[in-house]
Amino acid sequence: STHVASARGAAQVLVASNRGPVSYEVQQDGSLRTRRGGGGLVSGLSAIGPDAGALWVCSALSDGDREAVRRGVGEDGVRMLPIPAEVHADAYNGVANSVLWFVHHMLYQTPLEPVFDADFWRQWENYTRYNRAFAEALADEAAEGAAVLVQDYHLTLVPGLLRKLRPDLRIGHFSHTPWAPVDYFRMLPDQVAREVLEGMLGADRLGFLTRRWADAFTVCCTELTGGLGDTEVGVHGLGADAEFLRARSHEADVEERITGLRAEIGAGPSGAARKTIVRVDRTELSKNIVRGLLAYRQLLDDRPEWRERVVHVAFAYPSRQDLAVYRDYTAEVQRLADEINSQYGTPGWTPVVLHVKDDFARSLAAYRLADVALVNPVRDGMNLVAKEVPVVSDEGCVLVLSREAGAYAELGEDALVVNPYDILGTANALHEALTMAPEERAERAKRLSAAATALPPSQWFLDQLTALTGS
Ligand code: G6P
Repeated sequence: STHVASARGAAQVLVASNRGPVSYEVQQDGSLRTRRGGGGLVSGLSAIGPDAGALWVCSALSDGDREAVRRGVGEDGVRMLPIPAEVHADAYNGVANSVLWFVHHMLYQTPLEPVFDADFWRQWENYTRYNRAFAEALADEAAEGAAVLVQDYHLTLVPGLLRKLRPDLRIGHFSHTPWAPVDYFRMLPDQVAREVLEGMLGADRLGFLTRRWADAFTVCCTELTGGLGDTEVGVHGLGADAEFLRARSHEADVEERITGLRAEIGAGPSGAARKTIVRVDRTELSKNIVRGLLAYRQLLDDRPEWRERVVHVAFAYPSRQDLAVYRDYTAEVQRLADEINSQYGTPGWTPVVLHVKDDFARSLAAYRLADVALVNPVRDGMNLVAKEVPVVSDEGCVLVLSREAGAYAELGEDALVVNPYDILGTANALHEALTMAPEERAERAKRLSAAATALPPSQWFLDQLTALTGS
């Protein structure tokens, strides 16, 4: 490494994450188009904006990103690291998304199990290299005594590595995922489990989305590393950005998409408006989209009175398509939606309106039209959709919510709570949601919306910064 330990950068506050706030696409004419990054981490952190004066260090992910780095152009306050492709593939697809993500979401099911073979150990080496690239960039950019907020499971080794390079820094790490129970976590090879925990314990302060995940982490440390040492653990339940969402969801492009969606939803017998059950997710195994569709089919099966009168608006946006399990899952979602449509559909009624092309304005349009929001992950750090829909929906929607989502800790009392594996239970909850009396629905929606916005992203970030720097 060419890093010089005595060098000091200028940034007082730094954020580090794999995915950054923007990405670039090379256009036909060679110019670069800017796109907003996806996922909960970016939605949460984006609200901070360049105004906060923070420097955001992230990976160059697309060809456009790498081109932007090459041309030396890009947004103010963002530094993209051009990590070599094979290093990034091993760190991101291999270790982070195939192993750490699966462990924390407890997604392994026979025959899908972790295989820690020679390939894995090469990936692990590249994960370490990738983490070191972040640590070195942060060490170069950070001013004396600066605060560094490292994000998520991609970067678990950064706090420990950075601590060695720059003992003067205040280092925080935040997990946007659940944390695995110790019996599941120790599925990782001992060396990896220890390095992950010790890497994170290099931070002054660790943040989690709920008490449940913080406690699971603490138990892992008690059992596997001899405790937390001097590292503090805090809980910060990221909320929805009410002001931004309310304004954005009334812009012209959203209104336009509402018209389009209304046409797709159509009208029921004698022209009555159809009820809508809305879901918006990355096409992600933990989001449990397939069981959501099975529950909807069960509803149509058990209660024929809903046929022609309800539409399931399901947006399942592509995610991590380099991984075969994600591609297979995407295909299964599509197949099942088609099957339900051919089984129950009529010339004037499409039971499942499935869209797979990412479109934020259309997501907001669906939120506004939602009578019921279905959020049924098998495990989820928080789930921001559960918090966004109640804020945006025009009529105050009913939330059907998995007890395994982090959001359950804050919204559980006013949502209809389901066990995400229980298809019949979920179908019954959908029926209950669709038939809830208007007064009860309005009351619950009001409380959901208040709870969902209690900790807006800017405050969430500031709280962590204050706790880290003690000022
Ligand atoms: C989750 C993770 C984030 C990640 C997002 C999108 O929310 O906690 O770190 O950015 O998923 O996934 P992707 O792999 O596309 O970045």
